[in-house]
Amino acid sequence: MSEIKVVELFAGVGGFRIGLEGWKGRSAFTGFEKKLNSHYKVIWGNQWEPSTKTQDAFYVYSSRFDGKHSNQDISKVIAEDFSQIPDHDMLVGGFPCQDYSVARTLNQAAGLKGKKGVLWWSIHKILEKKIEKRKPVKYLMLENVDRLLKSPATQRGRDFAIMLSSLANLGYAVEWRVINAADYGMPQRRRRVFFIGYHKSTPTYKKLLKLKDKRSWIMQDGVIADAFPVNNDSQTQPQIFKGNLSTSLLELTENFNKKAKSSPFKNSGIMINHEYLTIDTTPDFNGKETTLLDIIIKDENEIPSEYFIDENSLKSWNKLKGAKKEIRVSKDGFEYEYSEGSMVFPDALDKPSRTIVTGEGGSSPSRFKHVICSPISGRLRRLTPLELERLNMFPDNHTKLNYISDIKRAFFMGNALVVGIVDKLGRSFSKEIL
Ligand SMILES: C[S@@+](CC[C@H](N)C(=O)[O-])C[C@H]1O[C@@H](n2cnc3c(N)ncnc32)[C@H](O)[C@@H]1O
Repeated sequence: MSEIKVVELFAGVGGFRIGLEGWKGRSAFTGFEKKLNSHYKVIWGNQWEPSTKTQDAFYVYSSRFDGKHSNQDISKVIAEDFSQIPDHDMLVGGFPCQDYSVARTLNQAAGLKGKKGVLWWSIHKILEKKIEKRKPVKYLMLENVDRLLKSPATQRGRDFAIMLSSLANLGYAVEWRVINAADYGMPQRRRRVFFIGYHKSTPTYKKLLKLKDKRSWIMQDGVIADAFPVNNDSQTQPQIFKGNLSTSLLELTENFNKKAKSSPFKNSGIMINHEYLTIDTTPDFNGKETTLLDIIIKDENEIPSEYFIDENSLKSWNKLKGAKKEIRVSKDGFEYEYSEGSMVFPDALDKPSRTIVTGEGGSSPSRFKHVICSPISGRLRRLTPLELERLNMFPDNHTKLNYISDIKRAFFMGNALVVGIVDKLGRSFSKEIL
């Protein structure tokens, strides 16, 4: 295989694509300075925003990349026009953390069903249908919030257990790791869980099955460990936890981890044939840190005036960013004491930035928006869309189009991923599979 054909689901503005293919042949991890020599080719993508009529992320993606890009609810594509999803080697996407539980269908013959609108089951359906066609998708690269490993609160880790077990049922082995981009020299403290899957028809699956010491795959030999090394000192080996997920999805839904307070899944792990091994690893990185100061625009003449915080709103910003202890009333009328600590205000310039959230755009005061103190004039200002793109390691002005507002551009970045992570994973992955 000299070319890895990729389908990109939940594509947003194309973070996975830029990470895997590079941009104009150059690698995101090197700030688009060095050539990437990518073997990946996205042959079909899908992006549909359910909450708005305008499909701005789709327009950005379509205006930046060639090829087939679908703008329909993915569950509709699967139900009504599955043939438009081409056979492919690798499926990638960042999908939401939702309730993955299953129920028995009323019609017993139809088996189990997940809740409507839960996008995990769309991914699962595509994999299942391709297997039925004898064209299994060989590889997966997926991303989610790290909370997935622990949700829901009433049955810690249940949703992840269902996800892993349903992949094992389809013949996939999975390795996972929670990666904080800033731990590996990237400019944002954004912690996400990444999964890599190998179908049983691949040499890597067969290799994993034979592997006696699966711990070594997590700690040094696996695709994720190669891209993102962890401390592997023989004196201080972290504890290994093992488990088995070979019961039915219904049984996992109803009974998984009902009594324990914490999830059995640690930040790193591997699962094959329903058996998992999981370890809490720590990053091993001695390179240079990238700080907020490194990425911001220094020339204030390039910053539109609305980004500066005016005297009148400063009081509200201070209040929202500050610590609070107050009595609030819940929806059902109960009074309770609410407290929260203070945020660093303005944001520290000598550290990687905090996580960008989808509400980052717009001038109204907020607890979570970034505010920096300009190193030149000392004036306080918010971050521009270009700076937010840099925090996710996108090419400058990737989302800039005439009809796209700054608020939308900030929203895209709150939804996107740190492209440098996918770049590094992709390079390590292609070494393993080509
Ligand atoms: C977490 S974001 C992924 C962002 C992407 N990785 C990027 O780099 O921009 C999830 C995306 O899934 C899209 N989405 C949500 N529901 C969808 C559905 N039913 N069909 C297709 N796309 C959907 C959202 O609009 C959003 O852009």
